[in-house]
Amino acid sequence: MQLLESEAAARLGLARRKSGYDRAALRRVYGPDAAAAADRADYRALLAACGDDPLGVWTRLFTVGVAASEAAAAEAFAPLGLDEALDCGLLVRSPGGVAAGWGLQFAGERAVFSDQLPNTTGGRSRDHVLGIGGASELLLDAALRSGARTALDLGTGCGVQALALAGRAEAVTATDLSARALAFAALNAEVNGAELELLQGDLLEPVAGRRFDLVVANPPFVIATPGRGWTYRDGGREADGIAAELAAASTGLLNPGGTMQFLANWLHVRGTDWGERVAGWLPETGARVWAVEREALDPLDYVRTWQRDSGESGDADQAAAWLDWFDEHDVEGVGFGMVNIRRIEGPSEIVCEEARHAVEPPWSDRVADWFAAREADLEPETLWASRLRLADGVSLQQAAELSVEPGSEGWEVDRQWLQQRHGMRYAEAVDPLLVAFLGACDGKAEVRLQVQLLAETYGAETAMLYAQLYPIIRRLVERGFLTQG
Ligand SMILES: C[S@@+](CC[C@H](N)C(=O)[O-])C[C@H]1O[C@@H](n2cnc3c(N)ncnc32)[C@H](O)[C@@H]1O
Repeated sequence: MQLLESEAAARLGLARRKSGYDRAALRRVYGPDAAAAADRADYRALLAACGDDPLGVWTRLFTVGVAASEAAAAEAFAPLGLDEALDCGLLVRSPGGVAAGWGLQFAGERAVFSDQLPNTTGGRSRDHVLGIGGASELLLDAALRSGARTALDLGTGCGVQALALAGRAEAVTATDLSARALAFAALNAEVNGAELELLQGDLLEPVAGRRFDLVVANPPFVIATPGRGWTYRDGGREADGIAAELAAASTGLLNPGGTMQFLANWLHVRGTDWGERVAGWLPETGARVWAVEREALDPLDYVRTWQRDSGESGDADQAAAWLDWFDEHDVEGVGFGMVNIRRIEGPSEIVCEEARHAVEPPWSDRVADWFAAREADLEPETLWASRLRLADGVSLQQAAELSVEPGSEGWEVDRQWLQQRHGMRYAEAVDPLLVAFLGACDGKAEVRLQVQLLAETYGAETAMLYAQLYPIIRRLVERGFLTQG
């Protein structure tokens, strides 16, 4: 299936560039107030300002979602013919002339066409090709920026992840089950002058036997909608089977040292830990894994969210069937998050954690930092000889209670913790011994000397004290509170 011949798609890309329509155009041309109002879906200022010039036409069609006259559209899309734009579905006839048949969004400088019309939700066809949504943005932000010669985007949809990878890797492969999705990905590659290898098929089947340096996937991870489902979000597997399949296949898809990053939903089954469920999907050897849960919804909120997404909020039978399925399977919630897997030698190391707060962007730095910390030599002898420094932006916070007991000293600190202003913005409880140790972490004294001094102060045996402190110091280094050297 092809939406436009590649030569015509290139002309569409040219028309877009000539019109000047891009992410910054609204603000630059129509002013920050009109752009800010449009961000909040108040288009009055924009409608008043948009003329029949090419930028005005593209803005009316793809930002506001209203019609433009045929004559103005013909000029705005040249050198693509108006007939070509109508034939492929980019434009549709409407009472005011022509309206957008596809959506157009931006990922950085890249223009990305899809079925996602401006200002609409629901009312989609079964083979609807998603535009750039919240999950797409999260993965765009999280995908590692360097170190990949070959990259794979599984379930590419309109191609947004693959296009981002094309700027960083030498060869990018993108797969999808949907012919229409691949047609959009091909069109978007042409429009942006990028080269993608596009393969059609179910999940891993089109890349069987191949390995990559970086694999990303924003897969159809929704816990199956009862009924016919939606290709863009239901992967045709039971429960969270799509994530389980990707996790199990991860090391077989990666070159040594390569990384796979995918978004997923996982079940919270009553009486079990979600982390154990995710860990159970992974190979026993060869994977270093960081799974981060960003949110968890109870079944009712989950069903409501996805019914709203597909415009099925009124379908009470579907909601009932879906909720019954959750009950029958003892599901009390659904987690959403990101799984990062690096291929390593030896037994798998798996860390599953919740991070619901806003971390310092971009996520790609957080992921790179996490793997770097795990790959550093943090053996007891190494830390013993290293000079540790408190990381920038780490502060010690205290909570105190006022004691009025006779003989008390007034405010009594009952809790102390370290707080990061940067990176993952973790908080970590610390005790007075550790506070004393951290107070001397200025990057000059070796840990060995610090521990000897502390041992003298507390009348402890140095080796015993280090044995007690080592796992805590190691954790603080791994979590970015302390840096080496
Ligand atoms: C949530 S969309 C992601 C689109 C895009 N990668 C992004 O980040 O916005 C999931 C994509 O997976 C595709 N898909 C659905 N079932 C699939 C399957 N069994 N195998 C491969 N791709 C599938 C859908 O057609 C859709 O394009």
